[in-house]
Amino acid sequence: MEKFQKVMQMTLSFKERIPISEALRKAEGDRVLIAGWVHTVRVVGGVSFVVIRDRSGMVQCVAKKNVNPEAFNIVKELGSEDVVAVKGSLISSKASLGGKEIVIDEIYVISRAAKPVPIDPDDWEKTSLATRLDWRFLDLRSPRNRVIFEVTDVAINAMRDFYRSNGFIEIFTPKIVAEATEGGAEVFPVIYFDRNAFLAQSPQLYKQMMVISGFERVFEVGPVYRAEKHHTNRHLTEYESVDIEMGFIDDHEDVMRMVERAVQHTIETVSSKYGKIVEEYFKIKLDTPKYVPRITFREAHKLLESNGFKQPDPNDIDSEGEKALGEIIEREYGTQLFYVTEYPWVKRPFYTMKKDNDPNYTKSFDLIYRGMEIVSGSQREHRAEVLESQIKEKGLSVESFNFFIRVFRYGAPPHGGSGLGLERLVAQMLGIKNIREARLLPRDPERLTP
Ligand code: 4AD
Repeated sequence: MEKFQKVMQMTLSFKERIPISEALRKAEGDRVLIAGWVHTVRVVGGVSFVVIRDRSGMVQCVAKKNVNPEAFNIVKELGSEDVVAVKGSLISSKASLGGKEIVIDEIYVISRAAKPVPIDPDDWEKTSLATRLDWRFLDLRSPRNRVIFEVTDVAINAMRDFYRSNGFIEIFTPKIVAEATEGGAEVFPVIYFDRNAFLAQSPQLYKQMMVISGFERVFEVGPVYRAEKHHTNRHLTEYESVDIEMGFIDDHEDVMRMVERAVQHTIETVSSKYGKIVEEYFKIKLDTPKYVPRITFREAHKLLESNGFKQPDPNDIDSEGEKALGEIIEREYGTQLFYVTEYPWVKRPFYTMKKDNDPNYTKSFDLIYRGMEIVSGSQREHRAEVLESQIKEKGLSVESFNFFIRVFRYGAPPHGGSGLGLERLVAQMLGIKNIREARLLPRDPERLTP
């Protein structure tokens, strides 16, 4: 080790390093410096082979015993996930990844991985999700698993671009709050000095306040917290919410049009940048749904019933129902993206506007993508006295929400907005079955580490 460190100090500078994908584009005979993690090692007779992986790709490097005995010996002793750097020249090799390999001139061992490596990144499919998440930093060495978060990055930037170019500004609101926004029980308490506080379930009330403050159109991307003891494949206790709120709307349909265009733009952007990679790793085609039909909650129930799916709760659509509805709509309308509108008042939060002549139903919507709800939204009640009575109707304390209600007494335009679960969108785009896979370091009722 000492020897390598000495050699490194003298001759190795990462400033000369190029990504493996770039090295593979070089001509035969070109000299390159690459570095990364050891993927596999093989010795066949007098030749040792090491496949090295960096974030851009993989390449096989070779050392012949009779040409470069020192490199041959170093490669032979390498283990999975060691970090190495290689200086060498490219040669064509039909049998190799990318049609080329690197003949090693010098190899440097930079960091040794302990043995055995607890999970083999190449074998992620054979490893349980729980174990993968325990060893997430190793799980992410698998290129397929990193793609999930590269897609997340592309998706969130597409969404930010879309909203900015439509006149929204990004805001940042408190995550330590005094009141639950989405309903009573599902909040995490926090000890805030000598008072009780909560982790925010949503930026709901603040985004509405900022519309009324005069920004008119705002969005926020941030973590939200739900103390739901759900053990499902679609619930996390901490997830990334993409919230929007817009003023001067005629009704919830204005919000829906904005949101569907944002989602279409996001899928389109991911598809154009990552479509091929997604198909290769996830075996799924990313088409942008062009047509987004709307059906009312009541029509959805009828449709489910006539197709033999009984819903246990007449005021709700459960996950099985959403899935079935997704299949029915795809069959009948040829699209995987659609809205269910006008949910019952009993199931929507206090700030939701009721329908004018039909107060048991609301000006609300859910957006369903590939059989799962990814967005929820509505027009909001902006009339202070109605808002106050709705707070009472939901059995909440007017006093606790006074900081919110008073805002509406000083000029509040009609407005509405929505919240999108980023992990759900990404999971559905990639056909991932368990939402935990789409969160870098997920939190659920059992998991608080790593
Ligand atoms: O339906 P939700 O709770 O609505 C709100 O938060 C409202 N403030 C939104 C609004 O503007 N009216 O959550 C919105 C979205 C859901 O459609 C879903 O995609 C995601 O957030 N979501 C979750 N994702 C992961 N884990 C959970 N426990 C989630 N709960 C909701």
